[in-house]
Amino acid sequence: MSKISMIHHINIQISDRQRTREWYERVLGAQFLDRGPKLNQRQLQFRIGTGEIHTSDTPEVIEVPRVHFAIEVEDWDGMLSHLDSEGVSYSRSAGGSFTPTGGEDPHQGRREDTNEHYSYINDPDGNLIELVYHPLGLESSEGADVGLVTDADNVRWTQQAGFVEDAYKAEPVKST
Ligand SMILES: [Fe+2]
Repeated sequence: MSKISMIHHINIQISDRQRTREWYERVLGAQFLDRGPKLNQRQLQFRIGTGEIHTSDTPEVIEVPRVHFAIEVEDWDGMLSHLDSEGVSYSRSAGGSFTPTGGEDPHQGRREDTNEHYSYINDPDGNLIELVYHPLGLESSEGADVGLVTDADNVRWTQQAGFVEDAYKAEPVKST
């Protein structure tokens, strides 16, 4: 078998593309991935950190308790004040789903092994997202410090040159 290099994307259920797009861009700084009109129609995709979030349209999202994904935050205090200013609530127990550990603050906790900071938020469809921050950083298999990314805007998967431009030429988006 081959070594697995990374998790490429997660796929979440959503009920309103526009609302989801606005929320992920505004709250988490996700970037809409433009694949051209045909592929955009298939699903909504974002780049978030070094990974991607893809979506499945569903009229009624099925919420499964405690199922979540976690994203690493670069500036922990900055993110919490951003959530405050956006009116997004966050909690250490994900609203009572988890037994809170690490400290007394109901809004955030610390984990023992890495001193990982953590908290939970929900997107507009109720998808549970864990925010984490690792002050000790990331290390290689040899124990050497590794910068997560050297690119200030984060890396991206290389797209075929001209793919999106050609897709828009082939299928111009009609404004109504
Ligand atoms: Fe988790």
